[in-house]
This record gives sequence, C-alpha cells and structure tokens, in this order.
Amino acid sequence: AASGLLDRFGRRATDLRISLTDKCNLRCSYCMPAEGLSWLQRSQVLTAAEIFRLVRIAVDSLAVRELRLTGGEPLVRADLVEIIAGLRAAHPELPISMTSNAVGLAKKAAALKQAGLSRINISLDSLHPETFAQLTRRPFLDQVLAGIDAALAAGLTPLKVNAVLMRGINDAEAAELLAWCLERSIELRFIEQMPLDADHGWTREGMITAAETRELLSSRFVLAPDPRLRDGAPAERFEVRLPDSAELLGTVGIIASVTEPFCADCRRTRITAEGKVMSCLFSREEVDLLALLRSDADDDAIAARWQQAMWAKPKAHGMDHVGLDSADYVQSERSMSAIGG
Ligand code: GTP
Ligand code: 5AD
Ligand code: SF4
Repeated sequence: AASGLLDRFGRRATDLRISLTDKCNLRCSYCMPAEGLSWLQRSQVLTAAEIFRLVRIAVDSLAVRELRLTGGEPLVRADLVEIIAGLRAAHPELPISMTSNAVGLAKKAAALKQAGLSRINISLDSLHPETFAQLTRRPFLDQVLAGIDAALAAGLTPLKVNAVLMRGINDAEAAELLAWCLERSIELRFIEQMPLDADHGWTREGMITAAETRELLSSRFVLAPDPRLRDGAPAERFEVRLPDSAELLGTVGIIASVTEPFCADCRRTRITAEGKVMSCLFSREEVDLLALLRSDADDDAIAARWQQAMWAKPKAHGMDHVGLDSADYVQSERSMSAIGG
C-alpha cells in the first residue's frame, strides 16, 4: 500500500469524500426528484465505527491527506457530531470539511466546530424565498441563512458557498449572490449543472456555462485570474473588484465540470453511504467495501481492494469529448444526492 491510491493515468487520490447518508431534507431539482428516492435501510449504511476504520486505513496506509463529509445531507445523520469527534480524536491534524445545505445548521454549528470540524461548504442558490423554494422545493431559506451566520460565528472558515445557476430561475441573481457573499468574506463558487439529476432533465442548452457566468458577473464586477496555485481544485478562482477600483473585494470560483473539465488533475476518491468506492463522480463501476468490512478481512485486504478500485478510475468523464447530448454519454443511475457531489 506504499504507493497510495494511484490510477493508470498517474493520478494519486489524496482527498477522500465520504457520504454519511443518502437522505436529504431538500429536493433540489438538479439533484433529486420531488418525491425523494427509496432510502437505504439503516443496516445498509456505514456505521460510525466503519467510517472510523475506513478513514484510518485511508490515512495510515493509503496516503489520504484530506477528508470531506458529504451526503445526501450530512446534518440529517443523528450521530454526526460523534463521528466528527471520533475522527478528530484519531487524526488530530487531518483537515476535515463538510458539504451541507445548512438546514438545521444554526443549532449545530458550534458543536461541530467543538467536535473538530475544520470548515464547511454550504449550498445556496438564491437569496429570494420564492426562488429558493422553487429550486429546492422546500421553504427553508431563513434556516439556511441562519445556518450560514452560525457557521461564520463558530469559525467554520474559510466558508464557501456553492451555487448552481439554472436558466430563467436564478441566473439573473448571479451578481447579487456574489455581492452578498463578498460582504461576508464568503468565497462563492458557481457550479455548472452536471447531468446527475434523478429526473434526467439536464440539457446542454439549459446549463449556464462558466463563460456565461463570467459574463453575468461582469455586469457589476471585474474578474481577474487569482494568482494562487489551483492545486487540483475543481474551482478556478478569480479576484473580484469593482470597475475603476484597485480594491480587492474577495474571490469567486467557477467549477466548470462540463465545459472546462479538470479530470487530469483529479485527486478525489469517494465512498458512498453504503460503503462503495466510486473512483470518479461519473464512474459506472463501484467497488463494495462494506461486505469486506463486515467479514473478517484485515485492513490490508481492504486497502488492496480500495487500491484496485482506484486503479480503474476513468481518465475523464468524457462529456467534453463526445458532447453531452451524444448517445456515447450514458448518465449514471446514481443521482448527485446518492454520490455526495
Ligand atoms: P474545497 O475546494 O476543498 O472547499 O471543496 P470542493 O469544492 O471539492 O467540495 P464541494 O463538495 O463544495 O464541491 C463543490 C462541487 O464541485 C461539487 O458539488 C461538484 O459539483 C464539484 N466537484 C467536486 N469534486 C468534483 C469532481 O471530482 N469532479 C467534478 N466533475 N466535479 C466535482
Ligand atoms: N450539478 C452540479 N452540482 C450539483 N450539486 C448537486 N447536484 C448537482 C448537479 N447536478 C451540488 C450542490 C451542492 C454540491 C454538493 O453539489 O449544489 O453544492
Ligand atoms: Fe475527477 Fe471524475 Fe470529477 Fe473528472 S469527473 S474531476 S475524474 S471525479
């Protein structure tokens, strides 16, 4: 296991993303169907102890250096604080972050920080209650805003906000969202919508591209390339200023998965809530570790299976080559909520 999680194309996965649950309390149209999905049984989901073991193997034997907890929505997991505390006790120096929709976060932010969470990324697509409710199919904007305030107050920083722009719904709000985030020292990232919705409703024309997003922001701001090293991150960052001003207001990121893919520098390995390795967000093959965890397999056997799974990581998602409308691109059965983003 000395070589870590290498793949055939010379990439090494050092960032681990573990999904804690497939459940979510929102129903964002680009992610989940209105009626929800058929949830996993509790017995099918990784326990806290199994998560601790996987992370220990990843860090001790597979050269993983960063951990992100995802969902569904990680906050719906009742033992979330205990999971973070257990991970932190075992790994004092490990960066542990979480991706959340912030519903219910206001009550828990301080406890999460106290337990050892380093920072948080929060999804927020609109500042207008009707638009928020239209996109998420739930009227929880106030809770999300309270969650963001609580996360900032608790020091879960640098805090990032993720927004998916949907044509004709919230695209006109791009500059307003950025202004709101800049005022709070939040790094906003705009994410190109990917074809990972359960309804398979994605269309190329419907997607707001990175280029369009930059255009939308230019109505109010001037963007310049951020000189900091990108370092394998999905987001390309830009410095933000007002026209005719040298004052740096902050940064904005654009995650252009579709039109400007970053697969060549990918460092991510994913574990689904039911303990399967996904070598890529778009992988069609999954490798089960749960059965191994629940057998008498030792840590080396689990590490070896994980390495095999990552060795098979696809070179790229392929959408950029074939064109997303092409019959060659087959959308996964898994929706984003069942992968964790
Ligand atoms: P930091 O930059 O470390 O804060 O985290 P992150 O941006 O990797 O994490 P986050 O969960 O906030 O991811 C934001 C979005 O980036 C995800 O929801 C995806 O849309 C996109 N993303 C993250 N990783 C990948 C990836 O490996 N491939 C693709 N195509 N998109 C990704
Ligand atoms: N395309 C792009 N981003 C998505 N997310 C969820 N579904 C999609 C999709 N189809 C984002 C959410 C959240 C993150 C976990 O993934 O907005 O910020
Ligand atoms: Fe990595 Fe796959 Fe995402 Fe490309 S699509 S960046 S290979 S996870």
